[in-house]
Amino acid sequence: MAKREIYVHFMVFVFSVVIVSASDQEGGVNSEEEADRISALPGQPKVTFDQFSGYVTVSELGERALFYWLTEAVHDPLSKPLVIWLNGGPGCSSIAYGASEEIGPFRINKTGSSLYLNKFSWNANANLLFLEAPAGVGFSYTNRSSDLFSTGDQRTAKDSLEFIKRWMERFPRYKRREVYLTGESYAGHYVPQLARKIMAHNRIAKPNINLKGIMVGNAVTDNYYDNLGTVTYWWSHAMISDRTYKKLLSTCDFRQQKNSDNCESLYSYAMDQEFGNIDQYNIYALPCNRSGGSRSSRQHMHLPHRPRPIIRQYSGYDPCTEKYAEIYYNRPDVQKALHANKTRIPYNWTACSETLNRNWNDTAISVLPIYKEMIAAGLRIWVFSGDVDSVVPVTATRYSLAQLNLPTKIPWYPWYVKKQVGGWTEVYTGLTFATVRGAGHEVPLFKPREALQLFNSFLSGKPLPKS
Ligand SMILES: *[C@@H]1O[C@H](CO)[C@@H](O)[C@H](O)[C@H]1NC(C)=O
Ligand SMILES: *[C@@H]1O[C@H](CO)[C@@H](O)[C@H](O)[C@H]1NC(C)=O
Ligand SMILES: *[C@@H]1O[C@H](CO)[C@@H](O)[C@H](O)[C@H]1NC(C)=O
Ligand SMILES: *[C@@H]1O[C@H](CO)[C@@H](O)[C@H](O)[C@H]1NC(C)=O
Ligand SMILES: *[C@@H]1O[C@H](CO)[C@@H](O)[C@H](O)[C@H]1NC(C)=O
Ligand SMILES: *[C@@H]1O[C@H](CO)[C@@H](O)[C@H](O)[C@H]1NC(C)=O
Repeated sequence: MAKREIYVHFMVFVFSVVIVSASDQEGGVNSEEEADRISALPGQPKVTFDQFSGYVTVSELGERALFYWLTEAVHDPLSKPLVIWLNGGPGCSSIAYGASEEIGPFRINKTGSSLYLNKFSWNANANLLFLEAPAGVGFSYTNRSSDLFSTGDQRTAKDSLEFIKRWMERFPRYKRREVYLTGESYAGHYVPQLARKIMAHNRIAKPNINLKGIMVGNAVTDNYYDNLGTVTYWWSHAMISDRTYKKLLSTCDFRQQKNSDNCESLYSYAMDQEFGNIDQYNIYALPCNRSGGSRSSRQHMHLPHRPRPIIRQYSGYDPCTEKYAEIYYNRPDVQKALHANKTRIPYNWTACSETLNRNWNDTAISVLPIYKEMIAAGLRIWVFSGDVDSVVPVTATRYSLAQLNLPTKIPWYPWYVKKQVGGWTEVYTGLTFATVRGAGHEVPLFKPREALQLFNSFLSGKPLPKS
């Protein structure tokens, strides 16, 4: 027994010597971190960056654990910021969407048998941390099943802050690193709410989380202005009749969480009788051909205050992408390589959790007050909008942001990528707004080159290119 302990200590000693010598200036690579290292994912092409994934327990009593996947920057990761990406829903996975079809380094092929590289991955210039939040999303789990029926904005923000604090203990080289929070859709709530939590944490604690800024796309922001902007988009894009538009405006109280029956039936009429079989997340794209009638999950499922659930008829360059994710991430060999699902979660991995979505406990009416706090704190704030999304459309975002009454610093202008208009932008004091022309709800999926330009400009803190 004694001999064995000595041996173990000796091994630990040798191990630490080795890793300390291989470590960076900011601190050593610890063994907890090493346990999270991904050697390679099944079917993965060779890459030069490092990847880690695993669980961080976030609740005091230790029932909830959040799953993350870190793909480090391709060049010189130690000098690059940490960018946390969140998807919305609520209830949708940032591994299904952000990592696997938007900004991450890999895409999944149609058979779910292998991965290929995304030429426009955001890890060209940043360390990307995909967080599945809250518990119940993807591989993130809770051992107390009642949690799935009581989670909302508040718990999501609290647990996500706890995640970052504990994750940085595991990855000390990221302490004091510049941090940016990013995301889309319902993460329009998560991102500002988490930013506010971090700002509050930084006022009382050390070491600080070095939060520099946030960026959100097609972001749920304010009930009233989002709903008004959404029906206005439907009308201005000829998806609904003048009559339905007028009736929606006169019948629905867009401030309410729950629509009246009259309002609800107008929404149903618009969607069932007037929209037709379109992809609401990209109104000009071909819908996915779902044989077998399988209803796919949705990235932006609707809260009670929103129109009734939309069947996600997903589209884009490849209209069925999250189906491939559901094949791939349910593979036992993939889960093993990711250090995921070690506790045998009693249901399959899905791109979105309907249970969480349907039982969402609390939702902010508006996050605009948090924008005011973030602006006052000097955070860099960028809000972008794919302009062919009808779910959280550009008009919704413009109506919402207009409430901030920000002075214009650089007036509206077209921005360019490869000599083409990528979209339009206006720089305000405290906030940059940009559209992405022809992009649907998931901007980096539909317009990967433009999205990378947007991200690079955001990171460098410079306005989008004028030519
Ligand atoms: C959940 O329960 C499993 C099985 O008892 C345990 O191994 C795991 O550590 C628990 N997770 C958390 C976060 O408490
Ligand atoms: C997916 O990858 C597998 C293995 O590399 C390959 O055999 C298959 O042809 C690929 N399928 C598609 C549709 O790309
Ligand atoms: C849709 O899928 C079914 C079954 O795979 C196929 O028979 C049909 O031709 C497809 N339709 C289109 C429009 O691609
Ligand atoms: C869970 O995933 C497995 C393997 O991908 C699949 O065979 C099974 O049908 C799925 N179960 C449910 C309930 O969807
Ligand atoms: C976890 O693993 C079990 C098998 O051990 C599987 O049935 C289940 O679908 C998996 N769940 C998730 C969320 O990956
Ligand atoms: C559920 O929402 C209410 C407010 O609507 C809030 O007071 C309560 O703390 C929330 N529960 C949890 C677990 O966050």
